[in-house]
Amino acid sequence: MNSLNIVKISSVLKKIIIAITGLSLFLFLVVHLLGNITLFTGNPPGKDFNEYAHFLESFGVLFTIAEIGLLSFFVLHLGTALYSNFINTSARENRYEVSAFAGGNSKKTYASQTMVLSGVIILAFIVWHVLMFRFGTYYDTIYLDFNNGEPIRDLYRLVTEEFSNIWVVLGYTISMILLSLHLGHGFWSSFQSLGIYGKSFTRITYSISYLLGTIISVGFLIIPIYIYSIN
Ligand code: HEM
Repeated sequence: MNSLNIVKISSVLKKIIIAITGLSLFLFLVVHLLGNITLFTGNPPGKDFNEYAHFLESFGVLFTIAEIGLLSFFVLHLGTALYSNFINTSARENRYEVSAFAGGNSKKTYASQTMVLSGVIILAFIVWHVLMFRFGTYYDTIYLDFNNGEPIRDLYRLVTEEFSNIWVVLGYTISMILLSLHLGHGFWSSFQSLGIYGKSFTRITYSISYLLGTIISVGFLIIPIYIYSIN
């Protein structure tokens, strides 16, 4: 096998890794958003959300394995994307002076041109987010009809406290705008990378991709805005 073929295979492999980890992270976001809907239900407020979080953590070692799996998908996704970008940039002898957005059928957009930048900012957001909630202040609470009346973590209190801070809400707003652009381009282009395309398939996935990205980001964004507005 000559070196050109090896380079081609490794660049295809990188695209496949980015696509599979990206689609898996997309799925995680859908599940995470659905779980977060419990923030709006429950009597007293927060009961459903706290019980849901407790239920997940009650899986113990399995939950930890899932967390490690999720973390490795994030690392693989961003690491491969950054490496790929680095290789492509250094391979280009002369960078184009003008990076105009192509018209017609081209899928070159603002979102596609800024995938690495939006990805890095979203990663910074996730680190901030996980430190804030997963490793944030530990409050506990008791529900007499749950967990035999033993205390469980009161994540609802932490979430409502954090989202009562305007700077946190602004930080989330900026991050969710970037997330919608990143998902909008990432979703349809993952199928391309996996070799799943065709004239009408690509047209349809391209159109629903930005719609899905927007629905997910707006879905997440409603939470801090709503909580801020009622406090
Ligand atoms: C604004 C809406 C959101 C709320 C209220 C929220 C809430 C939470 C909470 C409470 C946790 C800790 C769960 C636990 O300790 O059991 C968590 C974990 C996490 N969230 Fe979010 N989240 C939101 C949006 C997002 C977004 C947009 C992303 C990604 C782009 C994200 C990614 C994560 C990750 C990776 C974890 C760690 C999962 C784990 O280790 O169990 N979240 N979130």
